[in-house]
Amino acid sequence: FFQVEVKKGGDSFTVVAQASGKEVVVEAEDTIANALERIGIRVQVSCEQGICGTCLTNVLEGTPDHRDEYQTDEEKAANEQITICCSRSLTPRLVLDL
Ligand code: FES
Repeated sequence: FFQVEVKKGGDSFTVVAQASGKEVVVEAEDTIANALERIGIRVQVSCEQGICGTCLTNVLEGTPDHRDEYQTDEEKAANEQITICCSRSLTPRLVLDL
């Protein structure tokens, strides 16, 4: 039988907010934006569905698991920015410029 890949959630990973010197674990059903808010880092979100680009954040290290519709395929492949409202990480650690 078929196993359908679920696009929501995924493995947990650690997000490092480089400029703030803080880090937080993003659990399977959590979002990066919510996890950062919990440790007191203010982030801008609007649509929370990967459409508007409000939450776009620079990536310093690690490989994003892009789940948005905002960035082009070329931008996603460059792995320089991530929509933190919905995207996740393919690497155990994702370092952001926040
Ligand atoms: Fe709209 Fe993240 S808040 S893309």
